[in-house]
Amino acid sequence: MSDRIEARDASAREASGRGDGFPSDFTWGASTSAYQIEGGMALDGGGTSIWDIFASTPGNVRGGANGRVAVDHRGRMAEDVALMADLGISAYRFSVSWPRVQPSGKGPANQAGLDFYRALVDELVSHDIEPVATLYHWDLPQELEDAGGWPARDTASRFGDYAAMVGQAIGDHVVRWSTLNEPWCAAFLGYASGVHAPGRTDPVAAVAAAHHLLLAHGIGVDALRSEVADSAAVGLTVNPYPVVAAGDRPEDHDAARRVDGIANRIWYDPVLRGRYPDDVVDDLLPLGLLAVIQDGDLDQISRPIDGLGLNYYRRHHVRHRTGASRSPSEWVGSDDIELVEPPGPHTDGGWAIEPDGLAEVLHAVAAYDPPPLWIDECGAAFRDVVDADGTVHDTGRTDFLARHVDAARAAVDAGVDLRGFFAWSLLDNFEWAEGYAHRFGIVHVDFATLERTPKASARWYAEQIGAHRSR
Ligand code: FCB
Repeated sequence: MSDRIEARDASAREASGRGDGFPSDFTWGASTSAYQIEGGMALDGGGTSIWDIFASTPGNVRGGANGRVAVDHRGRMAEDVALMADLGISAYRFSVSWPRVQPSGKGPANQAGLDFYRALVDELVSHDIEPVATLYHWDLPQELEDAGGWPARDTASRFGDYAAMVGQAIGDHVVRWSTLNEPWCAAFLGYASGVHAPGRTDPVAAVAAAHHLLLAHGIGVDALRSEVADSAAVGLTVNPYPVVAAGDRPEDHDAARRVDGIANRIWYDPVLRGRYPDDVVDDLLPLGLLAVIQDGDLDQISRPIDGLGLNYYRRHHVRHRTGASRSPSEWVGSDDIELVEPPGPHTDGGWAIEPDGLAEVLHAVAAYDPPPLWIDECGAAFRDVVDADGTVHDTGRTDFLARHVDAARAAVDAGVDLRGFFAWSLLDNFEWAEGYAHRFGIVHVDFATLERTPKASARWYAEQIGAHRSR
């Protein structure tokens, strides 16, 4: 456990008191992920990831796009760090590309790849920006997928070696680690619905993937602890959804229970309580959950963690409708699940804007007596218009961020131990199956020239950070 975090508990938070907003040492960050922004894999002799292969199949990604160039963060890293410093951002959450630092997912490190992250961390530190690292944001080396991918237990062991390798290389300055980003997406979009890489549609494989991702997290916690600074917080980042029954029939409530089980409790319970929820075990029995759990796995998965990252975008409103969903879908173990869109407002990405859901997520996790919390991602896709003078007046995004920051503030006032807020995303980027169609950045990127221009939302965020600092 990090002394730094305990010390903050004892002093800063008590001194600033609850009930008057964010504590003085609250972290204001921005998030990105490797495949979405870096490009330039060949420069380092990196390997191929499942997203390279998935994106190369026509129909998988909108517009046939891929992350080969992305927004060239590999080439423009120093410029991007300077941009963050200019905005007053105090922490940067990035992910490490596994194939960049270990091209085939096993064997020796690729030093050139590690050197890039070493340079990034040094650049951040020299600008007084705290490095926050995620080890797995969905870009599995393709060779590991060819050997079975996450449904294969060995992938969790390979992840442990990779975690130790990265921990050794940059573990001196990274203040907080997430082993995994959003394992729900990796397991169920990747292996059940197939809308994300590797694009498999096999619910049994998806359930095995979920367990092995959790196991990888636990193995990764041990591996990181043996390599990184004692002061660093080690944990993971999940994407919980408040689940609302959109109907009063018993089957609507059962649909909501099932979705809550697969979206939320299948991650929280093993990590924070060392067991799978009974109802989730029942739902997944036909898909072989018990067959993949070995003795000791849940002890490994529930290693104490120092922090929990929560990514929040929206709620799920759910009801039962015969035929609405059929296996294979991301709701593994359940059919007839209908996601109902609540009335507006919505982002241009089509997601309902529901800031109260963020507070609900923070309060719901309290039942688990969790470690300190961070909002690791929160943001919105809007169709930005670049004005003649080059500015983007993205009032929709600014309003979205302001309302979610307010919800976070209310939760802090109510006693939730929330330590930071990270906007998704620093830069417009490759938005997975949506290609470059959905812009989430607070900084606009011209995808033709790769020029960066802070949007009005970035200026608002900078003011918010400045005002908080000068309190
Ligand atoms: C999250 C992902 C992130 C980005 C945002 C919009 O689920 O972690 O990479 O795609 O959604």
